[in-house]
Amino acid sequence: MHQAFDIIANQYDELFTYSAIGIAQRNLVWGYLEKLLAHRNELNILELNCGTGEDALWFARKGHKILATDISNNMLQITKEKISNAGLINNVKIIQADISEIETAGINEKFDLIFSNFGGINCISSDELIKLSSDIKNLLKAAGQLVMVIMPEFCAWETLYFILKFNFKKAFRRLSAKGEVVKFNGENLITYYYSVARIKKSFGQNFNLVAVKPIGFFIPPSYMEKFFHSKPKFFNILKKLEHSISKFDFLAGFSDHFLINLQVK
Ligand SMILES: C[S@@+](CC[C@H](N)C(=O)[O-])C[C@H]1O[C@@H](n2cnc3c(N)ncnc32)[C@H](O)[C@@H]1O
Repeated sequence: MHQAFDIIANQYDELFTYSAIGIAQRNLVWGYLEKLLAHRNELNILELNCGTGEDALWFARKGHKILATDISNNMLQITKEKISNAGLINNVKIIQADISEIETAGINEKFDLIFSNFGGINCISSDELIKLSSDIKNLLKAAGQLVMVIMPEFCAWETLYFILKFNFKKAFRRLSAKGEVVKFNGENLITYYYSVARIKKSFGQNFNLVAVKPIGFFIPPSYMEKFFHSKPKFFNILKKLEHSISKFDFLAGFSDHFLINLQVK
């Protein structure tokens, strides 16, 4: 699995992070975090699957201390470069760690927030998910927050897109319980899609629910970037519509991603 991400790492920012869709979806996540962390200074944050470090950089610029982790060494190299170019090495520590074995990563501190953005959680199986719930509970301070951004089992845009292409298998691929092999820039990735209910159940023993938000109900999945590139006005309308529905939690289960905020019991 991490080999696929190692291969993708050099193109990841161009394909996702700096794409119009990637920026729009990430802004929704940052909008939520902005409110959650308002007036809270110098937080200790553990980031799971940090990828190329875009969120670590954002947290660090706000003065927080981050432990950024990912399974892919190549992703971490890019994170290191970004953090050092921004002069923020005192705010960000970087270690290679597998989400499903996070308890063996030698982490000896406790965190105010544990954060996982854009599908890292979709790379682990449902059994690993339950284990993760207790592993990360032990890494959080009292009343510590957990925020994860996850791909649900159904995405209205995706189903419509593939039905219009008469590709019915892909239109409903997220429903596969065993995990689905998904191509990302030519690399095979096993992806497990999770409903909001499944995440609540898997984490319910150790966490209380704070909020659920749709991320990408009107803003489409990033593989539609090419199509929207030539239609900026249409894309701007979608961004406005997305802001207007952000309070409708039930749309989380029909979006490209959903954000779930839990708090340790
Ligand atoms: C779609 S990328 C998201 C990256 C980043 N969080 C972002 O917001 O752009 C998924 C990331 O999860 C990482 N990943 C996949 N499986 C993992 C695992 N078992 N443990 C830790 N990281 C993993 C990949 O290396 C990749 O960087």
